[in-house]
Formats: sequence, C-alpha cells, structure tokens
Amino acid sequence: MTQIYARIVGTGSALPERVLTNADLEKFVDTSDEWIRERTGIRQRHVAAEGETTGDLSTLAAQRALDAAGVKASELDLIVLGTTTPDIIFPSTACLVQHRLGANGCAAFDVNAACSGFVYALGVADKFIRSGQSKKVLVIGAETLTRMVRWEERETCVLFGDGAGAVVLEASSEPGIYATCLHADGGYKELLWNPVGVSVGFKDDEPNHGVRIRMAGREVFKVAVKTLDSLVEETLKAAGMEASQLDWLIPHQANLRIIEATAKRLNMPMEQVIVTVDKHANTSAGSVPLALDFAVRSGKVKRGQNLLLEAFGGGFTWASALLRY
Ligand code: UT7
Repeated sequence: MTQIYARIVGTGSALPERVLTNADLEKFVDTSDEWIRERTGIRQRHVAAEGETTGDLSTLAAQRALDAAGVKASELDLIVLGTTTPDIIFPSTACLVQHRLGANGCAAFDVNAACSGFVYALGVADKFIRSGQSKKVLVIGAETLTRMVRWEERETCVLFGDGAGAVVLEASSEPGIYATCLHADGGYKELLWNPVGVSVGFKDDEPNHGVRIRMAGREVFKVAVKTLDSLVEETLKAAGMEASQLDWLIPHQANLRIIEATAKRLNMPMEQVIVTVDKHANTSAGSVPLALDFAVRSGKVKRGQNLLLEAFGGGFTWASALLRY
C-alpha cells in the first residue's frame, strides 16, 4: 500500500492593522525599548482593534491559504483550529470560521494547547489524512492574546501580540509531513496560566473578571530551552533524519534567546532560522503559522525543502513537525 502523506499546498496569515512599538509601550508602562529588545528580541506587536476577534483574523488567514492553494472552501473535509482565545465559549471558533468560509458540513473543532496549538492541530490533521479519513484539511493557529493582557503589568504586557496563520493540507503520495511529536505535562500548569473560567468561576472583584496571563518567566525560559533541545532530537529520530538535512527551523516566536539556543543545539546558523518575533512578538498559537507564511511569501522557503516546526507553551505543552514543503 502506498503511504499517504499530508502536504502543505497553501499558506496564509493575517495581522491586525494597529502596531504597538516598544516606544509606544514606554509611554504608559515602566519599561524600555532596550530592555524588551535585549531580553526578548521584540520590537513591536500587532494589537486587535475593539471588536476584532480571533475568528476574524482566522477567516482572513484561511481565505489567503485557500487562495494560495487553489482550493475551494467547499472542498474541505476538516478544519482544526489552535487557539486559547476563542471568540466565544461555544460554538468553537473553528465552527464560526467554517460557516464564514462556506465550508458548512465538514468536521470542525478547536484545539487548546496554548502556544503549541497550531503544531498540535497540524499533528491531528496529519493523522486524519494519513488514516485516509480526510483529503483536504484547513489548519489554523490564531489568537487575540492582548485580550488577556493587563497593560500595567510590565512582566507580561510587553511580550504578547495578536495574529493568525493557516495552512491547507492535501493528501498526497509525495511527502509531506514526515513526523509530528506532541507532548504535555500538566504538572507545570502554574508557571504559565490564566486560571479563571466557566467552571471554576471568574473573579468579579478583579479587573477584566480576573482574566489575565500569569507567567513565571525565568522558570518557563529554563524548562523551554531544555525541553526543546530534547524535542528536536526526538523529532529528527522519528523522521529518520540528521540535523544537517534540515533547510529551515521555524520555531515558536516567544523569545529570540530561546530560538538561538535551539538553533545552536541543531548546529544551524541563524540564516536558516525564520525569525518574526521582532515584528509580531509572541502570538501563541498564531506564531508558527505566521512565521511559516512569512517565510513562504518572502521566497525564503522553497518547494522541496525540509522544515522543522516547534513550539512550547502553557500546560506545559510542546510539539513539533518535520516536513518537506
Ligand atoms: O510562549 C510560551 C512560552 N513563554 C516563554 O517562552 C517565555 C519565557 N521567558 C522569557 O522569555 C523571559 O524569562 C522573559 C522575557 C519573560 C523575562 O526575561 P528574564 O531575562 O528572564 O528577566 P527576569 O524575569 O529575570 O527579570 C529581570 C529583571 C527584573 O528586575 P530585578 O528583579 O532584576 O530588579 C524584572 O523586574 O527585569 C525586570 N523586568 C522588566 N524591566 C523592564 C521584567 N519585565 C520588565 C520590563 N521592562 N517589561
């Protein structure tokens, strides 16, 4: 039997129009452009306008990916959307996007794996295609993370931004996704979380009903670097490849220092690493597909090249995909 692979046939992305630079932040929070750039590599982030939602950005990114692929929404048989900032509690943002695209009838669901959301969604979609269940799948990673940010908290507000990215996958006898690795350890939940919600309740005596990101930055940093080191090793092994066969590393865009550490581990020069954290900041599930679309549209990533995608985030969750573009 011929092996079925999931191939990326189109990419797209969308960013809110409003740009907030480090200099803008300096005006209302006790921080500096220098601190933000040196510690994180971030220079600016995009911020959703009032009323602009994760679903809006997702729909735009998805339409661009469908156009690039030459695939009609009505041909899709599955939509998987990674997000931790859905428009509403239910229906899922995937369902909202499905209807707006005109893909009514296909399976559609969200995956909440925080910053690893897109790579998790890609792993799920890959399994649907490999099993023969689906032929054309839309995978989206999207966030309006600034809705969970308190602008007076300098430890977190400088780090995050909003945006969405999408890919269309098609079943093919040509590779394709070679391997995906998905992991989680809920024991680390308190290092990066937003611990309010429908079931535990909201905090009505706090601003925004207690909805805000809490992160122990230094601890997250240490675990992220160590975990990503072993994740990239595991992924290469799963795909039966050497690091020297990789053309590009497309990492989660949280912190330039974490990205540099992973590249070093793989012996890859920074010229082979896609970096967008300077322009987008950390867009959680949006970050990897935004970086991928940027890499494709700028002509850096070319057909036939091997790409290693990886992400790490709240949960903790961590995930990777090694694929031929
Ligand atoms: O996407 C999910 C995964 N998330 C991540 O991967 C994030 C991982 N963590 C990080 O990227 C880094 O830990 C941060 C960028 C969040 C922080 O960098 P750091 O080098 O770990 O700094 P720190 O938290 O140890 O803070 C150093 C100092 C502190 O002051 P003292 O205690 O040394 O006097 C902070 O109060 O920097 C201070 N500080 C700031 N100063 C200016 C913290 N935030 C700011 C700020 N502006 N925005």
